[in-house]
Amino acid sequence: MRTSAVLALAFLACCPLAAVAQTALASSAYPHTLVQESTSPQRTPPMGWNSWNFFAGKVTDQDIRNAADQLVSSGMKDAGYIYVNIDDTWEGERDANGVLRANAKFPDMKALADYVHSKGLKLGIYSSPGPKTCAGFAGSLDHETQDAELYASWSIDYLKYDLCSFIPAVMMQQAPNDKAAQMRLMIAAYGKMDKALKATGRPVVYSLCQYGWDAVWEWGPGVGANLWRTTGDVEPNWQSFYSILNEQAGLAKYAGPGHWNDPDMLEVGNGKLTLAENRTHFSMWAMLAAPLLAGNDLLHMTPEVRAILTNRDVIAIDQDRLGLEATRAYSDGEVDVWTRHLSGGAMAIAILNAGSDRYSTHPFHLSLAKLGLHGPLKGKDLWSGKEVTLTDNMPLELASHDILLVRIAATR
Ligand code: GLA
Repeated sequence: MRTSAVLALAFLACCPLAAVAQTALASSAYPHTLVQESTSPQRTPPMGWNSWNFFAGKVTDQDIRNAADQLVSSGMKDAGYIYVNIDDTWEGERDANGVLRANAKFPDMKALADYVHSKGLKLGIYSSPGPKTCAGFAGSLDHETQDAELYASWSIDYLKYDLCSFIPAVMMQQAPNDKAAQMRLMIAAYGKMDKALKATGRPVVYSLCQYGWDAVWEWGPGVGANLWRTTGDVEPNWQSFYSILNEQAGLAKYAGPGHWNDPDMLEVGNGKLTLAENRTHFSMWAMLAAPLLAGNDLLHMTPEVRAILTNRDVIAIDQDRLGLEATRAYSDGEVDVWTRHLSGGAMAIAILNAGSDRYSTHPFHLSLAKLGLHGPLKGKDLWSGKEVTLTDNMPLELASHDILLVRIAATR
């Protein structure tokens, strides 16, 4: 059930805000220089787990405790997965003073935070700048300071702030025919929560979720965002994450230490994804310097999925300290080649077969020249762990939806 995703799509249909994406406001009023890089609580892309992709509206306190336990026992925590994020549907009612209570599924949020922290992990939470969240629970409109203080009192470390009902309740209401004014209202709302969070003095990773509208990558850093969604909701199927991947081309220049493009959470281990698809999804999110927020059922994770999520070599690509996102170097038929520059002059090269057939009868030939490289180059295949030598025009055979991910130590 993804009713909120449907809701978000409905908003998209009703409000073509992209039309104002290029207004001068976005980049001039919120220059990147405003980003407080040194005070960012998260210099590399955040890693952890979020409840939405598997539990959606059913998530409970116990599920979050189980996720924390599993992150530790599976080795995921040691591999870098630190944030345990409660997504939508934790919210209850406000009391007479406007203080929000969690609902019956979360009887004691502070005790839950203490439990998660006792495992060496951090706790994330979710809200909306509108009166309601995407799933129809209480949002933060007109209660931003109160909510930020509440999160701080619970020792929350991460906030995902999801536009949702802010669109009809505020943007459409206050500026029905003025897209630029709607955009200003939205940006102001994100800025307001940023200020409220900062005023508490507690470092909080600030995650914007407004589906990648209005060139959020241009103004997100200016409202204190550590990450901003660049897309609608991911789903556990190849079409979904392959189209999201292609939408990321061109966004690399907006990512960097402390502020990241977010192509949405991981679906690794969900739905009917094949192991090749899980590998490709994980590899490409690492190439994109994306937040690595697993969204699978950690209690029933197969050893194969666990091995994918804890591949240290691939995680090291994601977490590379330079923070340079991959770019698509070229495509040849249904094969795409992406490269990412890494610290120390290293480079990651990803070659993926988006076709439905194995490339045995029509071999793909790798052009190192198109990557600005000269062969032969020795590297490591990050999925087999074996050394490989890349030569110019070498034929490569990739199974459908599979990937060859190679790290080369130095490009010359
Ligand atoms: C929106 C977001 C999702 C999720 C749901 C929760 O659809 O894009 O990631 O947070 O809301 O209702």
